[in-house]
Amino acid sequence: MTAGVGLTVLLLILPSVTYALTSSFSVDYRQNCFLKDGEPFRYISGSIHYSRIPRVYWKDRLLKMYMAGLNAIQTYVPWNFHEPVPGQYDFSGDRDLEHFLQLCQDIGLLVIMRPGPYICAEWDMGGLPAWLLKKKDIVLRSSDPDYLTAVDKWMGKLLPIIKRYLYQNGGPIITVQVENEYGSYFACDFNYMRHLSQLFRAHLGDEVVLFTTDGAGVGYLKCGSLQGLYATVDFGPGSNVTAAFEAQRHAEPRGPLVNSEFYAGWLDHWGGKHSVVPTAAIVKSLNEILGMGANVNLYMFIGGTNFGYWNGANSPYGPQPTSYDYDAPLTEAGDLTDKYFAIREVIKMYKDIPEGMLPPSTPKFAYGQVQMKKLKTVTESLDVLSLSGPVKTLYPPTFTEMNQAFGFMLYQTVLPVNCLKPTPLSSPLNGVHDRAYISIDGISAGILERNKALTMNITGKAGSRVDILVENMGRINYGREINDFKGLVFNLTLGADVLVNWTVYSLSIDEAVREGLLSASSSSVSISASTSLTTTPPPALSPPTFYAGSFHIPDGIPDLPQDTYIQFPNWRKGQVWINGFNLGRYWPSRGPQVTLFVPAHLLSTSVQNNITVLELEAAPCSSGSCVVEFTDTPVINATVKTTGQHTRRLFEKQDLL
Ligand SMILES: *[C@@H]1O[C@H](CO)[C@@H](O)[C@H](O)[C@H]1NC(C)=O
Ligand SMILES: *[C@@H]1O[C@H](CO)[C@@H](O)[C@H](O)[C@H]1NC(C)=O
Ligand SMILES: *[C@@H]1O[C@H](CO)[C@@H](O)[C@H](O)[C@H]1NC(C)=O
Ligand SMILES: *[C@@H]1O[C@H](CO)[C@@H](O)[C@H](O)[C@H]1NC(C)=O
Ligand SMILES: *[C@@H]1O[C@H](CO)[C@@H](O)[C@H](O)[C@H]1NC(C)=O
Ligand SMILES: *[C@@H]1O[C@H](CO)[C@@H](O)[C@H](O)[C@H]1NC(C)=O
Repeated sequence: MTAGVGLTVLLLILPSVTYALTSSFSVDYRQNCFLKDGEPFRYISGSIHYSRIPRVYWKDRLLKMYMAGLNAIQTYVPWNFHEPVPGQYDFSGDRDLEHFLQLCQDIGLLVIMRPGPYICAEWDMGGLPAWLLKKKDIVLRSSDPDYLTAVDKWMGKLLPIIKRYLYQNGGPIITVQVENEYGSYFACDFNYMRHLSQLFRAHLGDEVVLFTTDGAGVGYLKCGSLQGLYATVDFGPGSNVTAAFEAQRHAEPRGPLVNSEFYAGWLDHWGGKHSVVPTAAIVKSLNEILGMGANVNLYMFIGGTNFGYWNGANSPYGPQPTSYDYDAPLTEAGDLTDKYFAIREVIKMYKDIPEGMLPPSTPKFAYGQVQMKKLKTVTESLDVLSLSGPVKTLYPPTFTEMNQAFGFMLYQTVLPVNCLKPTPLSSPLNGVHDRAYISIDGISAGILERNKALTMNITGKAGSRVDILVENMGRINYGREINDFKGLVFNLTLGADVLVNWTVYSLSIDEAVREGLLSASSSSVSISASTSLTTTPPPALSPPTFYAGSFHIPDGIPDLPQDTYIQFPNWRKGQVWINGFNLGRYWPSRGPQVTLFVPAHLLSTSVQNNITVLELEAAPCSSGSCVVEFTDTPVINATVKTTGQHTRRLFEKQDLL
C-alpha cells in the first residue's frame, strides 16, 4: 500500500515520467488528422521490409530514410519468416524484429506496423506459412477454424512483442494494420475481420490506432473495411488523387486522409520487362497528396532482396525475381538515386529536413571472374542431400505431404514400358509446381513448366530410371490461388497411362551446402558431347548439377570487403550460395534480372570465399569458360526471353471477380 502511494507521488514529480504517461497517438475526427501527444500530426513514411535487408544494413537504410525527411517507416512482418515450423519461433539475427524497432526509435523514425497475418508483399504465399496447407482444403484468410487457431497462436506470440513498442508505451509504433487489402480477396468474410479486430484489441489494448488498407475504390473498401478499424487506401502516381481520397471518404467521412501505399516503383516478374516508374510522375502526385494535407507512405522506399527462396508469384503463375529493387528511391543495395533526391525536395516544401551529411552509397567492388568446377549431379548426391532416405508411394506426394516447404524435391520412377518412339510425358492437369527437370537414365530429356510446358516427348527402354527434380519457384502471394501446393500436385501421364510407384526424396540442399558435404564427381571425366562445332548453339540440357569455386579477396586494398554483384555468363538457371548463404535464384536466360546483389558481410577477407551453384539446365563448362563473375554494376533490366503472359499490370489490382 505505502509503496503504491510512494510511486504515485514519484510519478507526479518526475517530469520525464509524466511526459511518458501522456504519450498518445490517435485519430482526430474533428480536425481530420492524427493527433500525436495531443498535437495535429501528419506522417510522411516509406516502406522498408527488414526481411529483405541484411541486419548489418538496417541502420544505414533507416538513416537514409530519415535524412530524406521521412518521419515514419512502414514494415510488414512475414509470419513464415518467423514460424518456419508450427510452434518454433525465430526472432534472431536477420529476424530480430525488436532490434529493428529499436533502431527505428533510436534514429527518430516512427513505425507503421503491418503484422498481417497475410501481407501479400511479393513474398512467398503472402507471408503465410506453407505448413497451413497440411489441411488440404483450408480456406486461408477466412474464419476457417484451423486457420484461426494457427493465427491466434502466432498473434499470441507476435502482438505482445509489438505491444511493448507501441507509442503510448514509449516505443515508435504509432499505428497497426489489420490484414492487408482484404477487400481484394474473394472470401469477404466479415467474421474473420471481426475476429482479427478483437484479437488485436485484446493483445494491444483499446488505445492503439488499428487500420486497414485497400485499393482506392468503393468496391475494394466494401469487404476490406470494418467498424473500429480506420480505413485507408492505396494508389500510385497518375491516379486521380481527389477521386482516390473520395473513395476513402466513402468509408471514413471524417479523419485523416491516408495513402498507405503510394507506389514509388513497381514489381518485376521473370520473363517480364523491368518496371520503371518515372520520377516526374511520382513528384507530381506526391506534391498533390501532401498539398491536400494527407498522410502518405511510399511503397517501397527501399525494396531490397528476396534472398533464398522468399520471392512470391502472381497468377497466372508468374514468379518474382530475386531482386526486389522495385525502382525505389533507394536501390536494392541502398544506393541514393535521382528519385531519392527529387522526393526529398518535395518533402522539403512541407516540412523541415534533417541537417547534416547524407550517408553515402556503399562502395562496390568488381572481384572479377571465378573459375567454377563441376561437382556431382543432384541424383549422384542423394546420400548427402537426403539423410532420411526416400519415401515410396503409388502416386506422387506434394512438398507439404513430405514436410518440405522450399527448394527442390526429387521424384524417381521407372519407365513401365518401352518407349522406342517419342512418347508424350505430360502433366494433363497442369500439376508441375513449378518447374520439372527430367532425365532418363541420367541423360537430360527436357523441362516441364507450370502453365508453359505441359508435355514433352521421351524415349527409353522399359525399366529405365526417370529422375524428375521439381523446383518450387515461389508461392502465389496474391488472389484466390494462394493455396499454392508445390511438387507434382497432380499425376503425370506417359502416353495414356498414369505413372505410378514413385521413390521421392525430400532434399536438404541448404544444409548440405552449409556443411560442405557436396563433392566432386568420381567419374570426373566429363563426357558432355562437346563436338566443338564452330557455330555454338545453346548447350543441350544436362541434369541438374552442382558447381563450386572459391576466391580470395586481395590483401592491401583498404575497406574490403565491399558489396558486389554476381553474374553468370552463359549459365542458364539455378540457385547460388556464397559461403553457405543462399543468395537466391539466377535466371539470366529469361531476365530481366542478370546480376544478384552480394552484400559485403557475406564475404571474408581472411579465408577463401566459397561459391556453390546448382545449375538446373546447362552450365557453359563443357564448351565455353566455366566462370562466374563479380562486377560492381547491377543489371536488372535485361529481358532476354519474355514469357508472353502478363501478370499484374502497373498499379492494377485484378482478381476481384
Ligand atoms: C478527378 O476526380 C474528381 C472527383 O471525382 C473529378 O471531379 C475530376 O474531374 C477528376 N479529374 C480528372 C483530371 O479526371
Ligand atoms: C511429340 O512427338 C510427336 C510425334 O513425333 C509430335 O507430333 C509432337 O509435336 C511432339 N511433341 C512435343 C511436345 O515435342
Ligand atoms: C492419381 O491418379 C489416381 C488414379 O486415377 C487417383 O486416384 C489419384 O487421386 C491421383 N492423384 C493425384 C494427386 O492426382
Ligand atoms: C507398382 O508396384 C506394385 C507393387 O509393388 C506392383 O504390383 C505394380 O505392378 C507396379 N506398377 C507398375 C506400373 O509398375
Ligand atoms: C570455404 O571453404 C574452406 C574449405 O572448406 C573453409 O576452410 C573456409 O572457411 C570457407 N570459407 C568461408 C568464408 O566460410
Ligand atoms: C538498363 O539500365 C541501365 C542503367 O540505368 C541503362 O543504361 C540501360 O539502357 C538499361 N537497359 C535496358 C535494356 O533497358
